[in-house]
Amino acid sequence: MNIEKIVTEASTFITTMYNELQYSQQQLEDRLAAVSASISSVGSYLHTEEELQYGARVAWRNNSRCIGRLFWKSLMIADCRHLSNADQIFDALLSHIERGTNDGRVQPLITIFPQRSTELTIKILNHQLIRYAGYQIGDQIVGDPDSIAFTTLCRELGWRGEGTAYDVLPLVIQINNERPCYRSIPLEYIKEVNIEHPNFTWFHELQLQWYAIPIVSDMELEIGGIRYTAAPFNGWYMGTEIATRNFGDVHRYNMLPVIAKNMGLNISSNLTMWKDRALVELNEAVIYSYKKNKVSIVDHHTASEQFRLFCEQEQQEQREVNARWSWLIPPMSPTTTVIWHTRYNEIDVNPNYYRKQQCPFHK
Ligand code: ARG
Repeated sequence: MNIEKIVTEASTFITTMYNELQYSQQQLEDRLAAVSASISSVGSYLHTEEELQYGARVAWRNNSRCIGRLFWKSLMIADCRHLSNADQIFDALLSHIERGTNDGRVQPLITIFPQRSTELTIKILNHQLIRYAGYQIGDQIVGDPDSIAFTTLCRELGWRGEGTAYDVLPLVIQINNERPCYRSIPLEYIKEVNIEHPNFTWFHELQLQWYAIPIVSDMELEIGGIRYTAAPFNGWYMGTEIATRNFGDVHRYNMLPVIAKNMGLNISSNLTMWKDRALVELNEAVIYSYKKNKVSIVDHHTASEQFRLFCEQEQQEQREVNARWSWLIPPMSPTTTVIWHTRYNEIDVNPNYYRKQQCPFHK
């Protein structure tokens, strides 16, 4: 990003924030002057703690694909901008897992590492801090097919998994262009839920399990022209993410056929709607099991209601909601939610979370 661009982005961000939080005109002017002085002399600037907190929260509020945004103000921030050595970073990631998991009462949390600069770029190579490995063995796949490429990388770095369907992958970070380094996550940090069904006693024999907390670690946070290339964040799960997609998708754990067979459905005929019936039971099982184990989870009906509330709140604040319909409709009975029947606009707004290298400002 060139100097003028950073100044523009920074001023827009500071002005919006200071107005929204009703800081005085004097405070705003002083801060704008300090920021542009810093950018002219060193090409960049540092956010205050308030700016960092507000920026991370508003980036969540602005993210068009997230249905859970009603809770944007509750995001906790772990400011780790002072850390730049691998061991300290690994420790901070473990502490994120612990604080976010919070014994099952999941707390939305983001850990923010140093901003990108000419001297330093920190990257977390995991898609999520906790995720299961996938192994391609001949034409068989064990574990999560979505993790095959990353698992191969981990093995090249020297990591060895046990080869089960649920091996938790190690944390992998890369500092500048150095060789990535990894560290395994001690078991006591990883909360998992065994999946059972409230009525089908055979269900637990499928030995399905999932981890408690999704901590997305491959997105970059951008606030006022500053890029945080390592900023893992978590909320709690919505049931369909695990049940419909992770277990149900054909190219993931592909569990619908075996569930339908166990239910006694004829899976050779589409007319039995075996996929649909199996999906419902699988979704019920996931929610039931998380609740039973006192791990936070939200069903897609409640989440859709909460999203509607979020939109109402934003409207009251006279802000436009940035939303992508195709990501917001839940992948199960979507027409029963209000989201299906609503039109949304997708716009470019910053602060935001971006898939690596995909920020429109950096084209
Ligand atoms: N869909 C992803 C998964 O199934 C998680 C993405 C983030 N989800 C969340 N509820 N914050 O693992």
